[in-house]
Amino acid sequence: MVKCGIVGCGIIAPTHLAGYRQIPGAEVTHFCDLLSEKAVKLAENIPGAKIFTDYREMFKDPELDAVSVCTDHASHAEIVCAAINAGKHVICEKVPGRTPEDLDMMLAAAAQHPEVAVSGIFQHRFNRNNIILKELIAQNKFGKLLTVNLNFACLRTDDYYRQAAWRGTVSGEGGGVLINQAIHFLDQLRFLFGNVRRVAAISANLTHQQVIEVEDTVSFVAEFANGLFITVNSTNSASAKWRSALTICGTEMQVEFIDEKLVYLDGNDDSAVTAVRSALTDIDDQEKIHGKVYYGTGHTAQLTDFIRAIEEHRAPEVTLAEASGSAVFVHAVYAACKSGKWCDVRQFQ
Ligand SMILES: NC(=O)c1ccc[n+]([C@@H]2O[C@H](COP(=O)([O-])OP(=O)(O)OC[C@H]3O[C@@H](n4cnc5c(N)ncnc54)[C@H](O)[C@@H]3O)[C@@H](O)[C@H]2O)c1
Repeated sequence: MVKCGIVGCGIIAPTHLAGYRQIPGAEVTHFCDLLSEKAVKLAENIPGAKIFTDYREMFKDPELDAVSVCTDHASHAEIVCAAINAGKHVICEKVPGRTPEDLDMMLAAAAQHPEVAVSGIFQHRFNRNNIILKELIAQNKFGKLLTVNLNFACLRTDDYYRQAAWRGTVSGEGGGVLINQAIHFLDQLRFLFGNVRRVAAISANLTHQQVIEVEDTVSFVAEFANGLFITVNSTNSASAKWRSALTICGTEMQVEFIDEKLVYLDGNDDSAVTAVRSALTDIDDQEKIHGKVYYGTGHTAQLTDFIRAIEEHRAPEVTLAEASGSAVFVHAVYAACKSGKWCDVRQFQ
């Protein structure tokens, strides 16, 4: 049995708890929050749960095998490094590194302890449509890729930002819509199309003045290592609650997704189009969503992979280094916004 602990018992923590509870061979036994009442509340139905307010004390317990880090962005690096150095397997919520320096710290600690499984949550990689789409792209089903566009819009109100002091600050959150919400889609783009070469970007705070010190709207163009141009627009000042729209235009087929579901497909060869359509729509996803609908079902799948990686003494599917690539992408977009120039993404890698 892999005994797991959760550090940070706020909004996302119940999604981790519910995910672990579906995994044979895993058990959540340790709960930690600076505010003990939050840890007690999360553990209310867990007999014998151990409650902590200091993660260092929790990591001293030899019975604890693995940790989910579900705290604010600024504390991720410190807690992840402490877990690794204590010999605990660790999976960290996005974003793995609020700054490039945080990332370096975490990657250095992980490199010193290869016996420990270290992963970063990007649950949309476990969405079956994304997995199939990645395979179709690798098989060149869309022909030569010409352009890709990703539009993301959601709503984060002033009240949302006022609910937790870390949100909307450079020191606490590290940025706005890009580092917190749109990062899921930057990771999706890397998952589908590989690494990014350079970016040019612009950002603004359009509707959250006097409330946040970071951006609520960002647009950028990225040149990927394979030469593909991708444009991205993202805002969290929208009327839409949560909507992503991905368009992939290739010489053979054009495909469009809304919220990762197929909405448009056309191409040169009818039988090829039919095969791709059935591959992308014949999905009967029975997994239960724990938490908000737009979290999707991926947490349970990713936590399952994390637990199996521990049992099988292998690396998890999303290693810290792989997850870090998406944080690096975010940092590069911010650097490009600041400089007003193309930013070479490799300088952070
Ligand atoms: N993957 C997703 O879809 C998804 C969705 C929501 C949030 N998140 C991520 O989850 C993380 C947490 O977000 P949230 O909305 O749950 O935040 P939150 O503010 O609701 O909860 C964070 C909790 O961590 C606790 N905490 C902070 N520092 C701590 C420390 N040193 N030791 C112990 N506890 C500490 C706080 O007291 C708080 O209860 C963030 O990284 C966020 O980006 C991911």
